[in-house]
Amino acid sequence: MNESITKTLLVSFLICLICSLVVSFAAVNLRDAQNKNRLNDQRLKILQAGQIYNSNFDIKSQFDSIEVKFINFQTGELTDKYEGLSIDSYDQVVASRDLLLSSKVPQGEDIAIIKNRENIGKVYIVRDELGNLSKIILPIRGFGLWATMFGYISLENDFNTIAGIEFYQHKETPGLGGEVDNPKWKSLWPGKKIYDENQNTLKVIKGKVDPDDSMYFYKVDGLSGATLTSRGITNMIEYWFSESGYSSMLKELNYES
Ligand SMILES: Cc1cc2nc3c(=O)[nH]c(=O)nc-3n(C[C@H](O)[C@H](O)[C@H](O)COP(=O)(O)O)c2cc1C
Repeated sequence: MNESITKTLLVSFLICLICSLVVSFAAVNLRDAQNKNRLNDQRLKILQAGQIYNSNFDIKSQFDSIEVKFINFQTGELTDKYEGLSIDSYDQVVASRDLLLSSKVPQGEDIAIIKNRENIGKVYIVRDELGNLSKIILPIRGFGLWATMFGYISLENDFNTIAGIEFYQHKETPGLGGEVDNPKWKSLWPGKKIYDENQNTLKVIKGKVDPDDSMYFYKVDGLSGATLTSRGITNMIEYWFSESGYSSMLKELNYES
């Protein structure tokens, strides 16, 4: 009889088996394509943060024109090589989860709530036709309202004026904290400055910045209805431009130029 319980269970089991095989096959086979897309998107954000992306050319060739260097966060030193690490495949976010490759951020200093900071990071240098450094693009990350926001910020060659900011991963609410991706909000950043007299000063404020404010260049309009995400961005800038982040390297570059 076709309506026996055994047959019903067998058919259900076979359908489940076939579906799970299809899903596993797709997951395994699409993994490389997904990784490639993720890498491409990250490279696009690096180019966009540096305000150098040209949609007429492919992302990889533009990215390849950027110089990538390692930064030793303990010394602030920039190097082309570091103890056998491959600069192309080294992932500092993955390293930050490895106890041997990272350092715990002391609780009082962990304003961006990153918990561990990788010992070695990567920075991206843009040079002009004469070979002079024109911009530096730096990875940043920090907790928003819901999760860690990952992005890049670029500085002009005074190592203080912001050229652009981009986020490639976050879990903030669309329309609220998710407005970190809004081109109008991102356009408020170029020209703003991080340090005032060597003090890390930049803040994302609540509301709009008054154009007559004497600190206009050190303040960015807040995201409306998203004070916590805005505060998260202020905190991540404060952390990454402190001594634990890029400040020693930037000081050194300033002496050299
Ligand atoms: C469903 C929901 C999603 C929210 N998402 C965000 C968010 O992504 N970022 C944020 O800062 N606040 C978010 N908030 C609001 C915060 O809980 C908080 O009220 C807000 O940050 C205060 O900002 P305001 O002073 O600008 O109103 C959300 C609230 C709700 C109810």
